[in-house]
Amino acid sequence: MCGIIGYAGGKQAAPVILKGLERLEYRGYDSSGIAVIDGERIDVIKTCGKIKALYAKTDCGAKPNGTVGIGHTRWATHGVPSDVNSHPHTSQDGRFSIVHNGIIENFAELKAELTAHGIKFAGDTDSEVIAQLMQYLYDGDVLGTLRLVTERLIGSYAIGMICTETPDVVYAVRKDNPLVIGLGKNENFIASDIAAALEYTHDFVQLGESEFAKLTAHAVTFYDVNGTPVEKTPYRVDWDISQAEKSGYPHFMLKEIYEQPRALTETVRPRIRGNEITLDRIALDAKNANTFDKIDIIGCGSAYHAGIVGKAFMEKYCRIRVNCMLASEYIYSDPITDNRTLTIIISQSGETADTLAALRLAKKLGSHTVAIVNVMESAIAREADDVLYTHAGPEIAVATTKGYTTQVAALYLIGLKIAKIKHTVSDARYNELLSEIEKLPNKVQTILDDISQIKDYAEKYAEHKCVFFIGRGTDYAASLEGALKLKEISYIHAEAYAAGELKHGTISLIEKGTITLALVTQSALQPKMLSNIKAVQSREGTVLCVATPKTKDVGSDADGLLVIPDGDDDVTPVLTAVVLQIFAYYVAAKRGCDIDKPRNLAKSVTVE
Ligand code: G6P
Repeated sequence: MCGIIGYAGGKQAAPVILKGLERLEYRGYDSSGIAVIDGERIDVIKTCGKIKALYAKTDCGAKPNGTVGIGHTRWATHGVPSDVNSHPHTSQDGRFSIVHNGIIENFAELKAELTAHGIKFAGDTDSEVIAQLMQYLYDGDVLGTLRLVTERLIGSYAIGMICTETPDVVYAVRKDNPLVIGLGKNENFIASDIAAALEYTHDFVQLGESEFAKLTAHAVTFYDVNGTPVEKTPYRVDWDISQAEKSGYPHFMLKEIYEQPRALTETVRPRIRGNEITLDRIALDAKNANTFDKIDIIGCGSAYHAGIVGKAFMEKYCRIRVNCMLASEYIYSDPITDNRTLTIIISQSGETADTLAALRLAKKLGSHTVAIVNVMESAIAREADDVLYTHAGPEIAVATTKGYTTQVAALYLIGLKIAKIKHTVSDARYNELLSEIEKLPNKVQTILDDISQIKDYAEKYAEHKCVFFIGRGTDYAASLEGALKLKEISYIHAEAYAAGELKHGTISLIEKGTITLALVTQSALQPKMLSNIKAVQSREGTVLCVATPKTKDVGSDADGLLVIPDGDDDVTPVLTAVVLQIFAYYVAAKRGCDIDKPRNLAKSVTVE
């Protein structure tokens, strides 16, 4: 939700900021803007629309002139996307310019107070109060005033700021929203995400909760909430900038789909030694694994869907109750959680606001928390008791692909490890499953080696208005993700149903022309699925089956059949997911949708 960047260095700031904004565009893309200090004044250029509109308005970064500046790409929360509501926001006297990611919950009270003192607001955003409050409270000490301002703010924020009084400096502060500091050579950066500065540096410092930073081209100083200087230890990021570029693919989503064999290898391979699973520093041994009487898995969107796959796997093999919950529901549900609950928090970005709130609540209730996260040093990674990184590499497309499949693989590893410790899986079955998990990257590669059939079906069905996904057991879990993928990027109404549930209402929607994707990878459930497919066909619905070599007979009467590589029924959701990602991608491509940046969405949802 909104991307911010700041630059203090020797180069012209505008081109660096624009490039950085492009890399942050996945966080929001309804408007953008840039502010640069030019001598004694701040020049601001902002516009509605995507970053390419800002490129046009700045003559591709030829203006504004100056070497210190800030930029923002917006996902509107308060105030419609418009030029005036775009960030940066500047105080009425032109002295301060700010960019903000988050929500200022008490903005209305602050705005009323400032308006009563004669300050005129330019737009309707909550963020503008920050700039106007800076002007109102300014006492000659910029950093001190920023501290006073944050004391008045209720809500969440990552703020970047420049000021005409200190033309060499970029200021930053954060609370409940991400902000990293990039340490370059004679240049320093602030950014919502390392991707924005990765071209210039691999050394970063995570700004802590309520910490401040003051950056010039040659130095970065950090301060705690009281304004006392603090030392911070940088970390090095080994991601390559090429991973954050399209590298010849038409969309990041397609590139990331194709990266899955490598990503899954990174998740799985380093953790399997012989037939032992080692989960980094996660403390799972006989003593503590047996202290848990239930597992809660929590996430949002696709991370939640990964959790549903994980729940089925863990219940089956660990013989322990597993709840999978949406973070936004968990936090207001008065959860029955204590120190006998193991809480697994899943988040690709590690910064989703609802998921972070759920993590904090679980910890407060005494639960041991393990986070499955992709982005290093993100808030969730830092705050959880233990973290298992998926190592999927940067994911830029809003619709997650490799983020999701690597989360599922990580859950398999955790589940199998617990099952082994608890002796709830036989040695033979453990070895079989471990070997199947290890084979997943190659099997995904087999799917990717020939996508022509999936693409053909996608293009054939691309103009339909409604698509159902049905399945039983883990196929139902995979259906949820398949339907989400299709609806978020193609805007086709897509629903997932447990196949046996269709007859309890939804079948009334099946008519001639309705497309149903029937997932049939669970051998034991094949006969039941066949009955469900027949029921759809009897209502003149069109059925496309996704099956395995073992279950493919189910598709003999269907309108279409996609066969995924043979494998163990319990780990097929990873393979099915890849097929459904490709299907969704080519439906959206055929419909001419903006695949990497679907309307109304943002990848990183840092508001509740
Ligand atoms: C957004 C994204 C989804 C993602 C969800 C959770 O809604 O569009 O693709 O699954 O957030 O994100 P997280 O980073 O916590 O996994």
